[in-house]
Amino acid sequence: MTRHKKHKHLAYLRGQIGEKGLKRIRHLRLNLDGKVLAEMWPDFVGLEKRMKKEVPFLLKHIERTADVFDACLGSGAATIGLKLAGVYNIISNEIDQKLVRVAKTEATRFGVELKDIHNYDWRDIPPQLDNRFDSVLCLGNSLGYLFKRKDQLRALSSFRRILKEKGRLIIDERNYGLMFEKIFKHEKEIVYCGNLVEGRPILIKENLVVMEYQHKENGKVAHLVVYPFKKGEIIGLLEEVGFNEIEIYSDYRKGYDPKAEFITYVCSESR
Ligand SMILES: C[S@@+](CC[C@H](N)C(=O)[O-])C[C@H]1O[C@@H](n2cnc3c(N)ncnc32)[C@H](O)[C@@H]1O
Repeated sequence: MTRHKKHKHLAYLRGQIGEKGLKRIRHLRLNLDGKVLAEMWPDFVGLEKRMKKEVPFLLKHIERTADVFDACLGSGAATIGLKLAGVYNIISNEIDQKLVRVAKTEATRFGVELKDIHNYDWRDIPPQLDNRFDSVLCLGNSLGYLFKRKDQLRALSSFRRILKEKGRLIIDERNYGLMFEKIFKHEKEIVYCGNLVEGRPILIKENLVVMEYQHKENGKVAHLVVYPFKKGEIIGLLEEVGFNEIEIYSDYRKGYDPKAEFITYVCSESR
């Protein structure tokens, strides 16, 4: 990775956790090279297995004719799965160009074409997209890339703004409640289903979690620093930006289960 690219990635993290936050994790000698992480992401996702559960769940909330905005394409999971299921009007979004390349390779592997890819930061989605979508997806525990409450609110407000009147935001988070109890559940049945990459938290602090990913075949290691939402925190943020109908699912089952690996929120607004 070039100095410039590494600095770009670090700059994002520095903007979120500040110099003080970076100092707190310096001793861990993390590999924050986004390229290594992007390259191993498809093996962490395990798309063939992931879509078996994710797509039927999403189709309960998304019509095949819907206009969808996949806010964080990543290696392509939700977009590719939905396109294979016949949901074609999808605009995907990814700020990391390395992931865009990885997603295009994944899409080719599944015979899917990825045409409409935007590169917006969630905090700055332009007004041209206002009231355009029936569904906005923010999946794979992504909102925690933003640590600051004001940034989280800005991202969620953007998602709400680009939804049509009866549109739905579908957003998930890891069940950090379990992690705070020192239980890390990764059964590879939900969201991150690949067998070739082991992911685990190596540092759990109140306002910061460091995930370590290791590829079993090539031995490469990469890290991700994310914000761990507390119980009820995402719901509070969603309500604050105006979503007043929020359904909760635990590992895709309706209701809240404190033992679930992932919690998903299907959010809309009755005006
Ligand atoms: C954990 S990955 C999840 C990717 C994919 N949705 C999945 O489930 O595998 C988080 C994604 O959010 C994207 N992301 C992080 N911060 C962002 C921001 N401020 N604006 C837009 N995308 C962002 C990252 O580039 C990355 O693709």
